[in-house]
Parts: sequence; structure tokens; C-alpha cells
Amino acid sequence: KKINLAVVGATGMVGRTFLKVLEERQLPIENFYVMASSRSAGSKLTFNGKEYTVEELTEHSFDKPIDIALFSAGGGTSEKFAPIAAAHGCIVIDNSSQWRMDPEVPLVVPEVNPEDIAWHKNIIANPNCSTIQAMVALKPLDDKYKIKRVVYSTYQAVSGAGMAGWKDLENGLKGEAPKKFPHPIANNCLPHIDVFLDNGYTKEEMKMVNETRKILHNDEMRVTATTVRVPVFDCHSESINIEFEKPFEMDDLLETLKNAPGVVLQNNSEANEYPLAVDVAGHDEVYIGRVRRDDSVESGVNIWVVADNIRKGAATNAVQIAEEIIKNMQ
Ligand code: A2P
Repeated sequence: KKINLAVVGATGMVGRTFLKVLEERQLPIENFYVMASSRSAGSKLTFNGKEYTVEELTEHSFDKPIDIALFSAGGGTSEKFAPIAAAHGCIVIDNSSQWRMDPEVPLVVPEVNPEDIAWHKNIIANPNCSTIQAMVALKPLDDKYKIKRVVYSTYQAVSGAGMAGWKDLENGLKGEAPKKFPHPIANNCLPHIDVFLDNGYTKEEMKMVNETRKILHNDEMRVTATTVRVPVFDCHSESINIEFEKPFEMDDLLETLKNAPGVVLQNNSEANEYPLAVDVAGHDEVYIGRVRRDDSVESGVNIWVVADNIRKGAATNAVQIAEEIIKNMQ
């Protein structure tokens, strides 16, 4: 069966990658629609060798039969339009943070909790980019050794802040003042992603904490995070410190990571081989290296995790969810 599919926010950083990933993975699409704001309505995008005209997203965009819509046009747009699409029988896969913590909305990483797709009510949330790559790494370890506590420290690319973030680094390298970020990002590290909350954490940090618990189905898990924007265009890197309930053998842990779905283990520090943003850009897998025991606790490990934040961290993950849905339609 072929489906009708819409991309909302098609002109954006993630939107354009949706088109690329849908082409690469050859989803069975009958009718294809690209939508964005009035600003870019009428402009053209090429998909599978054909030109499509960008439509303005309105209340009537989902009057036509659309089976699946991939949304990446900001939280406000999702808040307003995802329920409209859902009411028309369209399944929305939403990349914004708007619906992620809603108890009626599954939050899904296909390698980790595909079973949660089953209870959707026409909206499924794509997790935060930094959370997605962490989940692919943590899930096999949680299954095996039961995670007690996690400490995230992230090194996040400017592409995570959309086109405007990308331009701030590009222009900042030429000496221009930032427009998107509150400080220069060139030659800098900003310990500030998304807005600050009352508890002193940023919203990005609390997304990692709360989404981790929801996806791993463990509200008791102790999780903390420091998220940092760094002058890198593509790929988020993360240092993850994990404490387990159970003891582990290093060989067994390495084997577990090596065999985990969606993981590439690149753990050969003696040869200077470890995951690097410049190498991982353009790939869909989550790369893991620098695996070493944390001797400061009874049973713990440190790992370094890198993934393409626009692909696995956004577009690819959403398209994988769409693939699961299509599989279940057959
Ligand atoms: P547009 O190009 O018309 O502004 P990015 O995060 O890379 O900046 O991309 C944001 C995406 O979300 C763009 O495709 C943008 O469209 C779209 N967008 C932003 N606001 C709206 C809106 N109110 N309605 C529909 N699409 C929107």
C-alpha cells in the first residue's frame, strides 16, 4: 500500500533532511505534500526528481487525505496544527518538544521502544536530538545491567538550532555578531541551550532528564545533564557517565554495545580511533567509543557518544517511526 505523506516545515533544516531521508529509504509514497509558513509558500522543492510547490500550512491543509505528516516547524506550530491533522485521521510524527511529555503521546526511538507506537492517538513525538542518541546507547545497557544513575554532558552542534543557528556560526567565523544565540558561538562554548527554568537548569537539560525516564519506562532513574552548544556545524557529541545496579565485565559490555541495533562501536583509543563529529556527519547510526570503567563507583562506565543530530537526532528517527507505522498498516 502506498501512503499520502506531508512534510510540515519542509523548508527548514530538519525539513530538508526529511526529504533526503525519505528519498534514500524509498518510502512508498503516493501523494506528497510540502508545507511551511506563508513566508516560503510558492517556493519549490525537489523530491524524487520531481518539483513540489510549498503550500502554506493552514487549518485546511489536512482536509485532503493525508496518512502521515512529519512535523518540524517549531512547538507553536505543532501545538496548533498537530491536533487539527490528528482530528482528520492523519498520524502526526512531531519533532518539536510540544507533545513529548504528554501522557497520551508515545515518545519513540524505534531501536529502543517501538512497542509504544501501538498506543498512539494520531500524534507520536520524536524525542529531543540529544536524547535520541543517548537512548540508542543506554537501552542495551539498561536491559542488561539496570541503570541506576546517568550524568549527561553534551557538546551540541549549531544545526540543532535550525538555519539561524547554522548562520550564527558561519557569520561568527567571519567576525559578525550573533543573531540567534545570546553570545558569540565562534571560538566559544555556550552552557545554555533553550531557555532557563526556575530550577536553574535549561529546558534542553530537563528534556534529557524527563525524556530518558519516559522512553526507558523508569520514573525512578536518577538523571542529570549539562548541555552545551559548541562551534560545530553537524553532530552532537556526548559524554555519558552511567552507574549500574548490577556488576559487569568489560568484554561483555563491549559485546553488548557492538551488537546493539543502530550502534557502531568505534572503541580503539590506542589507534586514536573514537567517534568524531566530522566523521559521523551524514550517517544514521549512533557511534560509541572511549568506553572505560568508572572506578569512582561500584559499577559504572564512561562512554562517548556521537550522532548526526539532524539525521538520527531528528529526520531519520521520525522516518523510522513512519516505516514502523507503514509496516503495521500492511
Ligand atoms: P518558513 O521557511 O516558511 O519560515 P528551521 O528550524 O531550520 O529554521 O526551520 C523551521 C521550519 O518551520 C521552516 O520550514 C519554516 O518555514 C517552518 N515554520 C516556521 N513557522 C511556521 C508556521 N507558523 N507555519 C508553518 N511553518 C512554519
